[in-house]
Amino acid sequence: MPDISFIQPDGSEHGLEAPEGVSLMQVATGAGIAGIVAECGGSAICATCHVYVDDPWQALLAPPDANELAMLECTAAERRPGSRLACQIPITAALQGLVVHVPARQY
Ligand code: FES
Repeated sequence: MPDISFIQPDGSEHGLEAPEGVSLMQVATGAGIAGIVAECGGSAICATCHVYVDDPWQALLAPPDANELAMLECTAAERRPGSRLACQIPITAALQGLVVHVPARQY
């Protein structure tokens, strides 16, 4: 169970243990992380699970597919190099210590 940290726009941090095999979005919504809306429930069609993945972990993730890339054009907050849809990130042991930042807004 990798340890994962969500950092809010105000700098507050919420750390938790995430089970492998679920998505980062499911971890966030299950723990009630503020700012991860996930309106579509993980179908990659809403972009309200937008997160910024910290640099060291970006390279450990599979690159976004064409659909995710298209949805990342629709995020409410600015898109950055670490922008990803949390519903498209499966939790694996390799993500031990993952740090993601929650955008200031999802709408
Ligand atoms: Fe809708 Fe991720 S939950 S795009």
